[in-house]
Amino acid sequence: MPSPAQPTPLIRPVAREEVGAIAQLARTVWQAAYRDIISQAQIDYMLGQRYGAPRLLEELARPDIWWDQAFVGARRLGFAATQATATPAEFKLDKLYVHPEAQRQGVGSALLQHVAQRCRARGGKSLVLAVNKNNAQAIAAYRKNGFEVRESVCVEIGNGFVMDDFIMARSLA
Ligand SMILES: CC(C)(COP(=O)(O)OP(=O)(O)OC[C@H]1O[C@@H](n2cnc3c(N)ncnc32)[C@H](O)[C@@H]1OP(=O)(O)O)[C@@H](O)C(=O)NCCC(=O)NCCS
Repeated sequence: MPSPAQPTPLIRPVAREEVGAIAQLARTVWQAAYRDIISQAQIDYMLGQRYGAPRLLEELARPDIWWDQAFVGARRLGFAATQATATPAEFKLDKLYVHPEAQRQGVGSALLQHVAQRCRARGGKSLVLAVNKNNAQAIAAYRKNGFEVRESVCVEIGNGFVMDDFIMARSLA
């Protein structure tokens, strides 16, 4: 059952001094979301790959990647990262994470709407993402927001780990 609705979150870009807080929130969400889906070793490996300060600072400086975060009051409840792709008019939602205590209260959908609006403003016609095939909660949230499965992939990411994902896509029309 959905929890009672939160007030509408305020969404703003991530600033350089906030990368530590984003990495901490990522760990909190990943530990809860992925503990029954991938191994602890893979969680640690992927968090290390994606949320180290140098990597986040490099992404924040790029013109083709956007990091957004959602607050209710002073509380940071979620974040999203979006990037341009090699396919014209197609953008990728690379990350979407909401604090476990704030899930199912509309924060993820608010971030998605914000991302979709930005992509449209930049001429985007479609938005794609990769989601673990066993991540039923996220797949439900993406379907609710208009995404459909486009293909199934299994990608090696080093250290013997794979990402066994669905690629989902939605039109931005
Ligand atoms: C996936 C995620 C970002 C969605 O954000 P959220 O704020 O929880 O989602 P919303 O409250 O906007 O939910 C939107 C819809 O998704 C569906 N949904 C969300 N959580 C669900 C759940 N646990 N079970 C079934 N449906 C669910 C519902 O249809 C919901 O609408 P409703 O509440 O009106 O029925 C969030 O759950 C999350 O951070 N999960 C863990 C990390 C993760 O898997 N991220 C995605 C990586 S690809």
